[in-house]
Amino acid sequence: MKIIAFHSYKGGTGKTHLSANLATVLAQKGFKTALLDLDFRGPNLQTLCGIDANITINDLLFDPDLTGEDILVSFESQYKIPLFAAFASTDFRKMGDIVRADKKQRQRSLKRILRLRDELSDSGFDYTIIDTSPGVQMESIDGLVISDATCLVLKADDFDISGTKSMVTQLYSLLDSINYVVLNRVVAETCPPEHGVWSKSDIELVNQFEKTITEEMRMRVLTSIPCFCEVAREGSRSVFSLDHPDHPFSHHIKELATRILEGF
Ligand SMILES: Nc1ncnc2c1ncn2[C@@H]1O[C@H](COP(=O)(O)OP(=O)(O)OP(=O)(O)O)[C@@H](O)[C@H]1O
Ligand SMILES: [Mg+2]
Repeated sequence: MKIIAFHSYKGGTGKTHLSANLATVLAQKGFKTALLDLDFRGPNLQTLCGIDANITINDLLFDPDLTGEDILVSFESQYKIPLFAAFASTDFRKMGDIVRADKKQRQRSLKRILRLRDELSDSGFDYTIIDTSPGVQMESIDGLVISDATCLVLKADDFDISGTKSMVTQLYSLLDSINYVVLNRVVAETCPPEHGVWSKSDIELVNQFEKTITEEMRMRVLTSIPCFCEVAREGSRSVFSLDHPDHPFSHHIKELATRILEGF
């Protein structure tokens, strides 16, 4: 099993959307895929998947008797693809428990995340996709530590870039994973691009930007996804590429999947 985490320095770059859409595309390719919400501070995946989960990853971190089977929700019958998800709790009390966890509990949490990884692997999962909190929260780092590949999601703005650069130097250099960059919500001169395709001058602009990122961060840019109004409008209510498989955003997700698979 391979694990891919989506992370970012700043919030709102598109981690949740990209992780849910990528997990869906991988499951559509026939891979048994688990989507894990490790964004305990601002969980969104329950809303995105239209789920009200009874037992969450938060419970698993605090209750030694719970296993992966207790928390995984199957989408197999709904979407006819081998997609499963485990969610972070939206209960403020449980969110607070995570934030206030002492060192001992943080160690227990990491052990239980590692045990969950082993359970998923033993249950025949091909891929696990992890959505994390932005910045350097402990729980996000747990997600990064167990990952084989990390996709650092950036919006192309200066705040995002300068913060991300320090995070890459100080944190990513310690990780034993393949680290990629995904540019998302990219605003070029023509926005949104006509029929989802950049114009020639915009391609040059985006290429130049990708080159700067590659040179400055020494990480490969897997894809640059434009800012699409339809995604901003509809994307938070459902997994966009399931409802709009032919939309250019969905093609970008398929391209992202191909490049990630090629990297292993
Ligand atoms: N390519 C895109 N084009 C337009 N809007 C997008 C795109 N990708 C994501 N969005 C929008 O950006 C917003 C933030 O996306 P999302 O919640 O996935 O980000 P996030 O990184 O998970 O945020 P947080 O750090 O708060 O968890 C959402 O409103 C979403 O619809
Ligand atoms: Mg999110």
